[in-house]
Amino acid sequence: MSGETAGPVGRGGGEVPGGTGRVIDTSVAHSARVHNYWLGGQDNFAADRAAGDAVMEAYPGIVMSVRANRAFLARVVRFLAAEAGIRQFLDIGTGIPAANNTHQVAQSVAPSCRVVYVDYDPVVLWHARSLLTGSPAGAVDYLDADLRDPQAILERAARTLDFSRPVAIMLIAVMHLIVDEDDPYRIVAQLMDAVPAGSYLALSQVASDIEAERMAEAAKRYNRLARETQRHRNHAEVARFFDGLDLVEPGLVPVQQWRPASDLEAAARSAMWGGVGRKR
Ligand SMILES: C[S@@+](CC[C@H](N)C(=O)[O-])C[C@H]1O[C@@H](n2cnc3c(N)ncnc32)[C@H](O)[C@@H]1O
Repeated sequence: MSGETAGPVGRGGGEVPGGTGRVIDTSVAHSARVHNYWLGGQDNFAADRAAGDAVMEAYPGIVMSVRANRAFLARVVRFLAAEAGIRQFLDIGTGIPAANNTHQVAQSVAPSCRVVYVDYDPVVLWHARSLLTGSPAGAVDYLDADLRDPQAILERAARTLDFSRPVAIMLIAVMHLIVDEDDPYRIVAQLMDAVPAGSYLALSQVASDIEAERMAEAAKRYNRLARETQRHRNHAEVARFFDGLDLVEPGLVPVQQWRPASDLEAAARSAMWGGVGRKR
């Protein structure tokens, strides 16, 4: 999709080709497309850009923040594959493909890695085939599914992943889109209950206590303009997702401070907490 003229649908939105029956609604901002806008992608519409700009006015650091989060994702996957020996990844809230997608990083370390992507956005679904190009030694699958129904995800992911062996559950920049009414802690607990000891949780989420005033205004603006409601969380609230897990060093930190690969990465700024926990 390039602006509003090419891609799966034209200017007015419509059904995703391929008989999925999924419809792209261009009239209201969607998180996957707003995120794509901030990352400099082409898969967004006027409503997404308006919401993206409104947030950017309240919090000008948003572009650096989402980039720092993508770099965090890549470092985490590299750590999990290269240092922790993980060969299975369940990446929920995948987003529109960008640089260094999970399977690319994981399979560059170990071609046998198996990755299941999950997202509920029809534009991500439309792009799914570009994600399904993993190495023949491994496997990559895509599920069009909703994180708020973790049981359905686990059942379908079992076609590709062996849940008797360690799995990394990846929830990168998605939990702030799960409001308290949807019981985010139950969702994470249910996912972690399904994987054996030695599995990992990798999670980042938008902070309410970094640049607090700007972030509160950013959330207010986003929530006025977008389909999903953002729920920013403070350090203690994000740390609760890791209850019962052993946090890997350096713990739950601003994403750019999680094992930065260079001084440049460490010097970035973000309003996102990120961490990795190991199941005992
Ligand atoms: C901010 S993007 C993050 C993308 C990617 N993980 C990253 O960090 O670059 C959030 C993604 O989560 C997806 N998402 C939000 N709520 C979801 C839900 N309930 N079920 C599945 N996907 C969801 C959105 O469609 C979007 O693609």
